[in-house]
Amino acid sequence: MKVADAICDATKRLRAAGVDAPRRDARLLLADAMGVAHPALLDAGSHLSVTESARFVDKLVRREAREPVARIRGSREFWGMEFALSDATLDPRPDTETLIEAALAAFPDAPPQRILDLGTGSGCILCALLREWPTATGVGIDLSEAAVATARQNAQHLGLAGRAEFVVGDWNDAVGARYDLVVSNPPYVRSSDIDALEPEVATFDPRLALDGGADGLDAYRRITPLLSRLLAHGGVAAVEVGLGQAEEVGRLLARSGLDPVTVRTDLSGIPRALVGRFDRA
Ligand SMILES: C[S@@+](CC[C@H](N)C(=O)[O-])C[C@H]1O[C@@H](n2cnc3c(N)ncnc32)[C@H](O)[C@@H]1O
Repeated sequence: MKVADAICDATKRLRAAGVDAPRRDARLLLADAMGVAHPALLDAGSHLSVTESARFVDKLVRREAREPVARIRGSREFWGMEFALSDATLDPRPDTETLIEAALAAFPDAPPQRILDLGTGSGCILCALLREWPTATGVGIDLSEAAVATARQNAQHLGLAGRAEFVVGDWNDAVGARYDLVVSNPPYVRSSDIDALEPEVATFDPRLALDGGADGLDAYRRITPLLSRLLAHGGVAAVEVGLGQAEEVGRLLARSGLDPVTVRTDLSGIPRALVGRFDRA
């Protein structure tokens, strides 16, 4: 079959399955199946080999079942770096790059030396920050052993393993050392909202990475009281929030002694990251 025909057929199948951008995804999956670095490099007139056809059909069937392209390909680009994914990791979102920008902006002069990432998942936040600050070291903690294994693998591939430590544990287990920067993108979806999300999220992102309890704020209620024991004098906490959560999470941060608390919006203008500084008396 010709590349152009394969894309055309696949686009129809993906459209029928309710996929949002069927042609884009068909091209991405075909490029992946043919080992082509970018869909723009596909040659519309060339033919798929039998093996490439079989690989493409396999990927197409997975996408028809609404598995995200990044999971089918096995990796996601975040902050210009490739992160391997596993069933236990959230598929990192572009919105989370707002949290990276907010953290970077909080240290305009001297970079932080010690960073803690609560709920590290694929390790994307910690690795992005370590890449930006070459003298910093960091700890990523996650309740999921499998996610921590993926985060370690990512740090290794990115050449950051010497400065990144990953620990299996609960938020509470992080207490014991002090950090210049604590970052977190915790689970923040209301439990009752999860099943109504797009299948790409509801079926394929781990529930542990999504479920924020009845009002979505459980993780913030647990994390914010720990901050005064986790932050060094003048240290900064930066957390991602979901739609409509900035005000309440801002209050929780302020109640934990962070002052001032500032908000950074994402590309859609939605308040996405909160940053607070801790000045111990
Ligand atoms: C929204 S995901 C964020 C993952 C990654 N930081 C990112 O931004 O893509 C939240 C992460 O918190 C972890 N998590 C949930 N509850 C936890 C807890 N009590 N202690 C530690 N980690 C937890 C989940 O396993 C998940 O990896």
